Amino acid sequence: MASKKGKTICIFSAKGGVGKTILTTNLAGICEKLKRKTLIIDLDLTGGGLSVALNRFNQRTIYHLVDDLSNNRRKDYLEYVTKYDDYIDILASPRDPRQGNKIDAFFIDNIIEQASYLYDVVLIDMSHVLNDINLVTLDKVDKILFLMTNDPLELKNMKSIMSIFRDLNIDKYKVILNNSRDTNKNYFSLFDIKNIIKANIDYTISPKFHIKKIDSYIMNGQIVTLHPRCESIFAKDYLTMSTMMIDILGEGLVARK
Ligand SMILES: Nc1ncnc2c1ncn2[C@@H]1O[C@H](COP(=O)(O)OP(=O)(O)OP(=O)(O)O)[C@@H](O)[C@H]1O
Ligand SMILES: [Mg+2]
Repeated sequence: MASKKGKTICIFSAKGGVGKTILTTNLAGICEKLKRKTLIIDLDLTGGGLSVALNRFNQRTIYHLVDDLSNNRRKDYLEYVTKYDDYIDILASPRDPRQGNKIDAFFIDNIIEQASYLYDVVLIDMSHVLNDINLVTLDKVDKILFLMTNDPLELKNMKSIMSIFRDLNIDKYKVILNNSRDTNKNYFSLFDIKNIIKANIDYTISPKFHIKKIDSYIMNGQIVTLHPRCESIFAKDYLTMSTMMIDILGEGLVARK
């Protein structure tokens, strides 16, 4: 387990369905390649199912952790997480969305803080809604990865969120343009996008990372970046995602032996 406080990173967007969950799992795969113990927290509390997507099931979820915290009977944190493999654990969202709705934002800070003492990296998958839970998360984490696609409606939403971020003095974000979800969407040039959102685009995932067999990966609970041939087949985008993580985790980071 982590010897010093790990980095907490959330994956957010202005619109649903832009590829946050897929990116979260792929970044977890990159962290594993860097030999970093990683916890994925599924904070998409009513529509998540990340542990189900990765074919991992556990009786305990974040709902039980919050319930036990609020009743002063929390067990070891690790009793609430689901193991994916030797490097990746998941704090699953509730299977029943009604339980998701009962989770009080008050506990989120504590849940993220505790995780940062146990893991090198904490990746938080979110919904795109600006509710209390997401606002606490955006405030708490070390870094926000703001994922977007080249979509007119989304760019309009993103513009408003960027201005909210400016009002709240939030500048700890990186913007990622995801061109891998829909390969034929190119309404706006990079220059236009930057002008609309009034922010820089820090990383771009290219159309080459569009995975035709994404459904079979999901059916098999596989993480694309952990596929033995991912690094060679998707060299450019693999490098982009690795660079992203290395930038966030700290300069000069080298893979642990
Ligand atoms: N690299 C990719 N290649 C092919 N399809 C992709 C890729 N990334 C995302 N998708 C497709 O986009 C869909 C939405 O992705 P994902 O569920 O990760 O988005 P999301 O932002 O988490 O959505 P939500 O807001 O609903 O949680 C997926 O079902 C998948 O089919
Ligand atoms: Mg999702």
